[in-house]
Amino acid sequence: MVNISVTDLDGVEHDIEAEVGMSLMEAIKDAGIDGLAAICGGCCSCATCHVYIAASMLEKLPEQEDDEDELLEDAEHREDNSRLSCQIPVTEELDGLQVIIAPDE
Ligand code: FES
Repeated sequence: MVNISVTDLDGVEHDIEAEVGMSLMEAIKDAGIDGLAAICGGCCSCATCHVYIAASMLEKLPEQEDDEDELLEDAEHREDNSRLSCQIPVTEELDGLQVIIAPDE
């Protein structure tokens, strides 16, 4: 299991455990943390799984594909460390990851 810290929309930090191979979006949803709608279910077509990733971990994530980048283009709250959590597979390398759920669009 991989330990991940997730800060919700109220600023409350949750320590969760995620299985390798699931997506970060699934891990956050499975932990019962509110604030991540993930309306499309992980098809990379809604941008409601938007999160901010701790800068130190960005290089450990897979490169952003064009479709993810295009969806984030339209996100009002996009930052340099924005990612769509459904596009991030949980790996052992991500142990200790810190994630903040982005505000609703
Ligand atoms: S869940 Fe829709 S883009 Fe991630």
